[in-house]
Amino acid sequence: MTESLTVRDNRTGQEYDVPISEGAIKAKDIGAIKADDDSPGLAIYDPGFVNTASCRSAVTFIDGEKGILEYRGYPIEQLAESSTFLEVAYLLINGALPSKAEYEQWVHDITYHTFVHENVKSFMEGFRYDAHPMGMLMASVGALSTFYPEAGVIGDADNRMIQIIRMIAKMPTLGAWSFRNAQGKPFVYPDNELSYTANFLSMLFKMSESRYEADERLVKALDTLFILHADHEQNCSANAVRSVGSSQVDPYSAVAAGIGALYGPLHGGANEAVLRMLRRIGSKSEIPAFIEGVKNGNEKLMGFGHRVYKNYDPRAKIIKKACDDVFDVTGVNPLLEIAQELEKIALEDDYFVSRKLYPNVDFYSGLIYEAFQFPPEMFTVLFAIGRTPGWLAQWLELTQDKEQKIARPKQIYTGDRGLDFTPRDQRWA
Ligand code: ACO
Repeated sequence: MTESLTVRDNRTGQEYDVPISEGAIKAKDIGAIKADDDSPGLAIYDPGFVNTASCRSAVTFIDGEKGILEYRGYPIEQLAESSTFLEVAYLLINGALPSKAEYEQWVHDITYHTFVHENVKSFMEGFRYDAHPMGMLMASVGALSTFYPEAGVIGDADNRMIQIIRMIAKMPTLGAWSFRNAQGKPFVYPDNELSYTANFLSMLFKMSESRYEADERLVKALDTLFILHADHEQNCSANAVRSVGSSQVDPYSAVAAGIGALYGPLHGGANEAVLRMLRRIGSKSEIPAFIEGVKNGNEKLMGFGHRVYKNYDPRAKIIKKACDDVFDVTGVNPLLEIAQELEKIALEDDYFVSRKLYPNVDFYSGLIYEAFQFPPEMFTVLFAIGRTPGWLAQWLELTQDKEQKIARPKQIYTGDRGLDFTPRDQRWA
């Protein structure tokens, strides 16, 4: 079988042989197709990058049709069952599971860097009482670049690694403090005797007790949620990190851009929208009317559908199970019944079946987060903490990829050309 594509340009009658490699053709080869010598080369129009590979990557594999997700080749189900978030973070960053010594060193290094400069605390205190914690997280991660100006030296491997460790370590501290700011409660310093996730819960919920002892089942469930969110190949926020990182800016600024992307309701903000939707539906009897509204195009069924998964999102399955573990401790969230019924009805309805719309990771995650007593504004912050190793693995790969260039898509210009400027006194006369 010849691994190439023959393209005939009917404007000129000319034929081109375009090599196919790894299931793709190079946009550059299409750019060589021209109507005449003076015309620009043929471009590919792909809003939202629906069918454009922007990089070669060895971090995360997804088969959306089959509902498969693997980090560095390991199925998400096995990682969620048997690994820890920090081990998964190591895997994503380093490309292989750690030995015992490597794991202990990694956990030690991350734990050692959980504290932030005191000035970070003062500027976080400067946010208004009602500041959205995600906005605070984005600003404070961006601000870390000013505390570590050497982070801009991205060509140095050791320097890159220390910034990666710092960011994974400090993200829970910044996330927890964003939460405490909204609550009007004092910031809690990290407790480095605790595990990564137990320490995060301590910084969130500790009051006057000498040590905050979180229920181990909750620690495990939250750690699993972090694992499920740790990477998802070239999604909107990873693409933002890569795109901004391609300017060779420091990783704090690149990750701040990723946080901005994740903030949006079509990405990380969907679980917040799911809860609002479930609350609005209010009872099982209202579901048919709601579904009719979705089918008539009035609104979307939030937490359903995915750009890549055209099957059940494997993370949603694991979260559904984690729901049971969390609700054993906290009591059942009454919205769960509505969510389960909604899912059942939608999965039997031709509108959703024919469009391959299945529950995504956000459909159940909000219910769990709410059981933890997190307000909806915190949901994306939790997502961001989990996603940080993935963003950094994508960024690290980018910095070492010789084929990468500054991200700069083309456009199809649709505006006017060559207009004569009319001075204001004539236009406004
Ligand atoms: N409810 C109802 N209809 C939907 C939904 C939905 N949730 N999602 C897609 N559709 C419909 C579209 O209207 C479209 O129908 P049409 O062919 O009749 O026009 C068809 O399904 C295809 O949808 P697209 O919008 O083309 O799919 P796209 O890949 O661009 O969008 C997205 C994916 C943004 C996730 C979309 O499914 C959506 O908005 N879902 C709700 C928001 C959500 O849950 N986001 C979380 C995603 S997971 C994450 O980011 C962590």
